This record gives sequence, C-alpha cells and structure tokens, in this order.
Amino acid sequence: MIDIRENDGGRTLFVLNTENTTYTFRLLENGQIEHLYYGPRIDVLSSDGLLEHHAFPPGNSSIYSSECGSFSPEDMRYEYSAPGKGDIRESMIEAVYADGSRSLDLIYDSHEVKNGKPELKGMPSSYGKEDEVQSLIINLKDKNGPLLCRLIYSVFESSDVICRRTVLENIAEEPLRIEKAMSMQLDMDPGSYVFHTFTGAWAREMKKSDIPLKAGKISVSSRTGSSSNRANPFFMISEKGTTEDYGLCYGFNLVYSGNHYEAAERSAYGKIRVLSGIQPEGFEWILDKGECFETPEAVLCVSDEGFGSLSRRFHRFIKEHIVRGKWQHKNRPVLLNSWEAAYFDISESRLLGLAKKAKAAGIELFVMDDGWFGKRDDDSTSLGDWYVNKKKLPHGIKGLADKIGELGLKFGIWVEPEMVNEESELYKAHPEWALRIPGKDHSTGRNQMFLDLSINEVQEYIINCMKELFSSADISYVKWDMNRNFTDVYSAALPAERQGEVAHRYILGLYRIMKELTKAFPNILFEGCASGGNRFDPGILSYFPQIWASDDSDAIARVQIQEGYSYGYPQCTYTAHVSDVPNHQTLRRTPLETRFNVAASAVLGYECNLSDLSSEELDVIKEQISLYKKWRSVLQFGEYYRCRSFSDATDKNSLESDDNKDAEWVIVSPDKKKAVCVVLQQLVHPNTQWLMIKPKGLDPDKKYRIRSRVFKTNLKDFGGLVNYVAPVHVKQDGAIHNILAKFVKMETEKEDHLMSGSALMKAGMRLKSAFSGCGYSEEMRFYPDHASRMYFIESQEEKDERTDKPE
Ligand code: GLA
Repeated sequence: MIDIRENDGGRTLFVLNTENTTYTFRLLENGQIEHLYYGPRIDVLSSDGLLEHHAFPPGNSSIYSSECGSFSPEDMRYEYSAPGKGDIRESMIEAVYADGSRSLDLIYDSHEVKNGKPELKGMPSSYGKEDEVQSLIINLKDKNGPLLCRLIYSVFESSDVICRRTVLENIAEEPLRIEKAMSMQLDMDPGSYVFHTFTGAWAREMKKSDIPLKAGKISVSSRTGSSSNRANPFFMISEKGTTEDYGLCYGFNLVYSGNHYEAAERSAYGKIRVLSGIQPEGFEWILDKGECFETPEAVLCVSDEGFGSLSRRFHRFIKEHIVRGKWQHKNRPVLLNSWEAAYFDISESRLLGLAKKAKAAGIELFVMDDGWFGKRDDDSTSLGDWYVNKKKLPHGIKGLADKIGELGLKFGIWVEPEMVNEESELYKAHPEWALRIPGKDHSTGRNQMFLDLSINEVQEYIINCMKELFSSADISYVKWDMNRNFTDVYSAALPAERQGEVAHRYILGLYRIMKELTKAFPNILFEGCASGGNRFDPGILSYFPQIWASDDSDAIARVQIQEGYSYGYPQCTYTAHVSDVPNHQTLRRTPLETRFNVAASAVLGYECNLSDLSSEELDVIKEQISLYKKWRSVLQFGEYYRCRSFSDATDKNSLESDDNKDAEWVIVSPDKKKAVCVVLQQLVHPNTQWLMIKPKGLDPDKKYRIRSRVFKTNLKDFGGLVNYVAPVHVKQDGAIHNILAKFVKMETEKEDHLMSGSALMKAGMRLKSAFSGCGYSEEMRFYPDHASRMYFIESQEEKDERTDKPE
C-alpha cells in the first residue's frame, strides 16, 4: 500500500496506493515536499514525467532561496503550505512565534510507516484493523523556529480512501500561537474544475450547488459552533463534465463536528489548492512548551467513474470505518416518535394511546420526544433539569417504559444535554456553567444557552446525569438533540488569551461525553439530532450510528435533502419519518404511499398522530411496515444508486416542461440479488403518459423479476370524474361520494416482468401509461402530483427466498 522509494533520482518518492487510486509525492531539493498526483490508480515507475520542470520562476514571483532559483513556491504543487517563503496562496498552517514572526519554513526531517493508525487523542477518527490500514508519518521541522509538524496519511486500501491529519508540536521554551491548522491540503494541476458544496438551513439541508472554479477562491464554512446545516463539511471537486456515471471527481470530509472551513483556490497559474479543517476565523490555540495540537482527520477519496461511484466509496468507508459498535451492521428498528403527534403536550395516557396503535401497526420502538422533564411545557424552560415531570408521567420514566415494554415495544427517550435554559434549577445553581461573557448581555437561540463543555466539571455533570437517566429504566434508544448556534463564545474558565480555543474545546468536551456514554451503554441505539441536520458529520457518526436528517419530513422536500446526504453518507446513517399531512413544515399534502417510499429509502420511522388516523390509514401503515421489514436489510444497508434527480430537470417525454420533475433511485443488495427502485414525480405534466425506470448496479447477467407495489387508491382522488361511471349523480365530497370512497377500492396497476440485468439497466423497463384525462382502466397508472412507486427486483434464483417471508 505505502511504497517508499528512497532513491528516486537521489530523493525520496512516496507512493500511496489503494485498490483503485494512487497518491504520490516526492522530496524537493530544499526539503519541501512536492505533490505529484492524486487520482485513479496508476503504475508509478518513478517520478519521471510526474515532476514539474521549472526552468525559471514566473515574473514578479518570489523564490525560496538563491539555491532554488528555478521555481517560485507560489507555482508549486505542495503537500502542505505555510506563509512567509514565497507561497502566497492560502496556507494550511499559520502560527506566530513569541517574537511576533509568522514565517514558517517547514522542511522534511524524517518519516515512518506503521500498520494501523497512530492514535488521535480526544477526538474521533476512522478506524481499521492493522491489515486494513497503513499509515505514513512525515516529520517536518521549521528551519527558522522551534516548531515540529507531522503530516499523517492513513491508507485504507480496499475502501479507496486516504485520511490525512496534521500535528503541530512546540519545542520552544515560550508559548506559540497557532492561528490556523488545516487537516489537509491538495494541490491539483490546472484544469476545468467544479466545486460542489452542500449548503442549506433549518428544514432544507444539503442542497448541492455546483460552482465552477474559474478564478479566485471559493469557500464554505461554519461558525455555528457545529458542523452545521449552513454548509456540511462534505464537499466534492470534479472535472467539468463529470456526471453520475462518468468522469473524475474528488470527495472530502472531516471527522469533526465543530466550526469548519473548506476552500478551493485557483492560483495565478491555474493550479487548484484545496484545503479543509477547523474554521480559522475566531480560532487561536496557545501551544505551551512540549505540547501538541492535533487537527481532526480529513477523509479523501477520488473516482474516475462519476459521482455515483465516489458516493458508494464514501458509503462503504463510513459504514466500515466510521460507524462502530453494536448497531454498525444491525438492522435499525422502526420507531414512532411522539414529537409531531403531541409536541410538548404529553402525558402517560396519551403516550400509551399512541404506543398501542404503534404496536398494532408493527412499530418496534416507541420514542418519547421533548416535554417529559422539569416544567417543560414549551421551549422556554427546564433544559438542564433532567428529572421527570410527575404531572405528565405520574409513574415516572420507569413506569412508562415498563408499560411500553409490556405492550411489546422498546422504549426510547429524547434529551438535549448540552443545553441549559435560564429558567431552570441548573442555571440557578450554576450560572457559571453557561457559555457566555460574564457581565455582558447574551444572545440566545430557542431561549437556551450552551453549557460550557470545555469545563471538566460540566462534562462530569452531564455524564453522571445521563448515566443516571439512561439506567433509570429499560431505555433502548436515545435521541441526542442540540438546538442552537453559538453566540458570545466565551469560557469563564479560560484566561483572556485562550478564548480563541473555546469552540474547539467545546467539541473536545462533547466527544469525551459521547465516548463515555456510548461506552457505558453499548446496547443503546443513539441517534444524533441538531434541529434536524445542524450537526451531521463523521465525528458524530463515530459515536452515534444514525442522525435525524432534517426536521422537514415533507416527502418532496425530503427527496432533495436525502439526495444531498446520499452524496457523502450511506442511507443507514440518516433517518426519515412518515408524518401527517398537511405537512407541519410545508403544509403540503403528499400521498401516504409517497411519504413511505421516501422515508423507507433511509432508516424508516413514523411521526404522525396514529391516534387520529383512520383505521384504513392504519391498515396501510401496517402493510408498509411489514413490507419494510422484509426488505429492511436491502433498504438500510444496500448500495445506493442515484438514477434521476429533480435537479436534472429532464422531461420524461423530452418535452420542455418546468413543472414536471422526476427522481429515481435504486438500492441494491451487495450480492446484487435484490434491489428496490423508487420513482417519484413532483408535478404532473399533462398528456405525458409514458415513463420508464432504468435501475443501476444490477448484475447484467442475472435474470430479474420486477414487481410493483400494489396499493389501493382513493376514489375521491378522481373528483367529479366518478360521474362518468356512476348511475346517479355523485356530488363531490357529499355523503354518497364518501360512502362510495369507503367501499369502492381500486388497486393500482400491477407490473410484473422478467428481464435480464443488462436489459433493465441499458434499455430500462417501460411502465404502464399514466392517467392523462382519459383512458381509465386497470392497466392505467394512477400518477397524480407527488405520486411515486416502489419496484422490487429479485434475481430469479432467489425468488422463493426471504422477501416472501418475514425477517
Ligand atoms: C428539535 C428536533 C425535533 C424535536 C424538537 C424537540 O427541533 O429536531 O425533532 O425533537 O427539537 O424540541
């Protein structure tokens, strides 16, 4: 994997190979390190032809020294960078010595190779067995000052991933101030590249944007204190023209949950520098003598087979080397969450009422969300007071959990341990534990303040308090929420000159808490949440195997949100719920079937008021859940392929249309014997009956049977058209209409085909005609606005196996 050639024209050449990719660099005559190549796997005979040849430095540029007069650092591809010696692009490392100087002259000193990975203290990082990952450590030394720098590369051969991180060590007597420490840098050759970001806000996370890297610098970042929904740390860079299935693209992520920064800068000479790491704005770290600063780990991956292949590499990596613990490969339970059904208005009887319905529908886990503790009747009070509200739950959490258990359901609970309300017992007892500037006004969010997790005592308090809570009843699941952004960042426990450390120290404190609790409760399924996806990153996933992707459960909005996540994260890491209509975030009405089809493409849960649903709707939900259980391992852990996206805006009949957008995706079992394909439309485009599905990822040589999910439609959805067939006039929404709708049930079209994998993937499967103003028959596809279909694909040898039997 790591191949080091000590004598490549007199200098050392480093070649890092994974199964399908190569990363290589070489020492320069001045001891700096030149990046040579990162891309699809190549045979590196030597650096010949990969090295740049510089006969002279570009006009008006600086040189490193007179002995290295043929090149300017500004025009080199480097493995790392720092200011002061001629490289005027954005740098990877910035520090200030005690004398105020800022020039860093980091030069190669030595290297070592290790099987496995050197430990990263206090922070999560990817993991792998000694035969799965090998690490290279490059030791650099500042020629002009007492600073050591280590570049650590960990090569995951079979996942095609290289992780990078940086360690800075102060070997001076005096303290040193670090102002910037990025986890990774990648200098790329000139070319036409596009920077793909995933930005958003509450209820609309992970919107992909494609920004051409023509000139200057493009960056995304977070200063919310969390990895944030404003810009996820996952991003991609592709060669112009790259598509889902073809072309060169790079993906990057950070195993970090705090403020982060990602940038791509095109230099004066067309080269692209990519950086990612802790947000340098507002960050400073004082390194005392002998101390080290370790950056979080960056994850790098490349594919020349388009975005789809890049995503699946990330998925495998996250599933195998980030998520860990009992739930890593285990099917996740179908849950009912009380939030949108009851909000703060919970009581034992109300929750038990919901739980009974949940059990009857086949739900496995009942989750009591916010509102159960202190005096929590709204969001203005009680965070920090983690004792039960006896008015709402007279028999305590244990009493409720036991009753839920007797119903045959697992029990889960909501907490937001990082927070305190001003109106709480905890704040009265410990105002100094809140993260705020003493004596100054504090800006809040959702009426709450952060607890200062940089303080050891606060960490201890949270750990003990949560340990007590989690062991007070039979708790199988915990939803760990975090509902605001940083303001007035200041720790009363740190001196003035260390206030730039608070945001990072907070995250280190959080990681300690998460580590202790997940260790103490290995069987609990923890789900991360931060007003939805305001802290969705590989750092959280290193402790919690799944995260609530968005507070927006509207199926149409979710298609785009989940598609955004799918670029960097496997579907077993994001959860999705079927909720009531009109949807509580958008007021949109989408069919129950579509809500299920979208939520079932992630980790499925329900969040509707089951107590208010009709028995018909409950029957439908019961069927959905039983179907989901049969296909759950494919849906949760299969390989994810994006086939069509709303953003492609391709019209199914090649007619110009702005309103009709389709999405299609398919999830395939790793052995390619089973797959589930979902197709969904935004709005109907009239008189366009024709549609086909074209799944990907199947075995071209296998024979597959493809069946549609058949379900019942509501006669009332045809409105007054019922009068075409009714012997008497039926007034819309009148008594007869309602009675007819109750008893006349029409099933959706049946699709049942036998096709080869090659035919399915290359020619596609044509679906029955959609309703289009006329031609109603059993052969017709009822396909109004927001309609969708799920197709089950099974290889013929498998037809009698598992999917026809319960799990
Ligand atoms: C956040 C979460 C919701 C819910 C509420 C409870 O908004 O994202 O799912 O738990 O908090 O207050």
